[in-house]
Amino acid sequence: MRSKIVAGNWKMNKTYHEMEILLGELEAKVPDTEAEIMVAPSFVNLPRAFMMLESSVIEPIAQNMHFAESGAYTGEVSADMLLGIGIETVILGHSERRSIFGETDDVLAKKVVAALAKNLRVVFCFGEELEDRKSDNHFNIVADQLTKGLFNLEADAWKNIVLAYEPVWAIGTGETASPEQAQEMHAFIRKAISDKYDATIADNVSILYGGSVKPANAAEIFSKPDVDGGLIGGASLNADDFMAIVKAI
Ligand code: PGA
Repeated sequence: MRSKIVAGNWKMNKTYHEMEILLGELEAKVPDTEAEIMVAPSFVNLPRAFMMLESSVIEPIAQNMHFAESGAYTGEVSADMLLGIGIETVILGHSERRSIFGETDDVLAKKVVAALAKNLRVVFCFGEELEDRKSDNHFNIVADQLTKGLFNLEADAWKNIVLAYEPVWAIGTGETASPEQAQEMHAFIRKAISDKYDATIADNVSILYGGSVKPANAAEIFSKPDVDGGLIGGASLNADDFMAIVKAI
């Protein structure tokens, strides 16, 4: 059985003190749920987040990491550094990493391999741009991102993969994919995995939707059979909104 997951991607938001306040609020509002709950503060705040959440059901996760073990990579963070502060899950391939920081499919494939080699769990993000959808090329783009990023993995590696389908045109824009569009793409993704590997792997992988998920639209999106949760940006910065989304699952 695949897990239901709601993950908050805080991006470059929340100072140390602001994070302490938000984590305190989140802790106070955690509903009774079987869903896994994750939050991704910035690197500098992760050790404190780990300490604050040590006995919590909320898991602190990282927003990124480098593929190299260590070395001359100014400004980067390695898998061992994350493990060293207790972090067990990392987001890779977020569309902002791809578009603003130039991370290619090849770089992301290396990052995935490096993270899995250290037993980190990977939340792998991918999704098409607006032009791709307008030109009806969205399925090809998504299949290509999956193939280049993940289809070199051994079957066994998939137990540590969570997918986050995030159409770029829906991220931070207030425009959400309709529940039908999300379901259609998630089913396509699951079928692609089943074709490449097998139905058991495809059935067991959690596929999150991301892109302007809010308390008002979460329940409908999460009601779709192939949508196993959400990767939440803006709405994860407010404790009431984030926990309302967690409840919606
Ligand atoms: P958003 O961001 O919820 O603010 O659209 C989602 C994401 O970037 O993961």
